[in-house]
Amino acid sequence: MKTGDAVFGVCDVGQEGAYAEKIAIKAAIVAKKPNSVSHVEAAALALIGLTALVTVEDTLHLKSGETILIQGGAGGVAGFAVQLAKHIGARVITTASAANHDYLYNLGADEIIDYNAQDFTEVVSNCDAVFDTVGGDVAQQSFAVLKPGGRAAFIASGPNAPEPPRDDVQSLRPKVSRDRAHLARIIDLVQAGAVRVPEITRYPLSEAAAAHRVSEARHLRGKLVFDVR
Ligand SMILES: NC(=O)c1ccc[n+]([C@@H]2O[C@H](COP(=O)([O-])OP(=O)(O)OC[C@H]3O[C@@H](n4cnc5c(N)ncnc54)[C@H](OP(=O)(O)O)[C@@H]3O)[C@@H](O)[C@H]2O)c1
Repeated sequence: MKTGDAVFGVCDVGQEGAYAEKIAIKAAIVAKKPNSVSHVEAAALALIGLTALVTVEDTLHLKSGETILIQGGAGGVAGFAVQLAKHIGARVITTASAANHDYLYNLGADEIIDYNAQDFTEVVSNCDAVFDTVGGDVAQQSFAVLKPGGRAAFIASGPNAPEPPRDDVQSLRPKVSRDRAHLARIIDLVQAGAVRVPEITRYPLSEAAAAHRVSEARHLRGKLVFDVR
């Protein structure tokens, strides 16, 4: 990188303050933003990409030919994970309300369960891996769809992975790093056409409170980005 390059990244763990025009951040945890990716797209991709990569590749070690259930497919992290898992060569099952099914088929999902109409534990079984981005009861029930030896990763159940109700599967809590290598891999995947930028909803920073209400309602599709000015 050289002076004047545009960069992107995610604040270090414990550092707050990204709702700002300027922020100081360690050079080691940002990467060069190519001209082909806009600032808004880079902002949308950074945390979801880091989280999906660390979970699917570094934690679950998903392999070609395996089957993964990704809970909450229409969210930002899960949408990236659906595409990454397809790129790896896995079969991808995901859950979403009916209005989001076309969106997810377009991202490459093989099978989509409308969780409002069907109990996923009755229609999914024998998975090699689960990636849960929903939490709560959905997290606990997810263990039921794993085959013996299966792995499940959880990012919406707090700092620790939930206790599994069976002893033949793994319950994992990804440690989502901030580092240039993972950010560069996000860009490589986007430039290769393997991963598309999520659907982006933009809010002016002055409407941050309204944006938070939308985010906290947990039905936003894709990712929310603030226009700082
Ligand atoms: N480093 C980390 O550990 C890390 C990083 C990023 C995010 N997270 C956490 O990961 C979670 C996901 O974050 P996100 O920003 O990607 O998405 P999000 O905004 O929390 O999720 C929104 C999506 O969840 C879906 N959804 C809600 N309830 C559902 C259910 N019962 N079953 C299936 N889908 C459901 C909604 O789709 P429908 O409208 O179709 O229901 C919506 O599109 C959050 O808890 C977040 O705090 C953790």
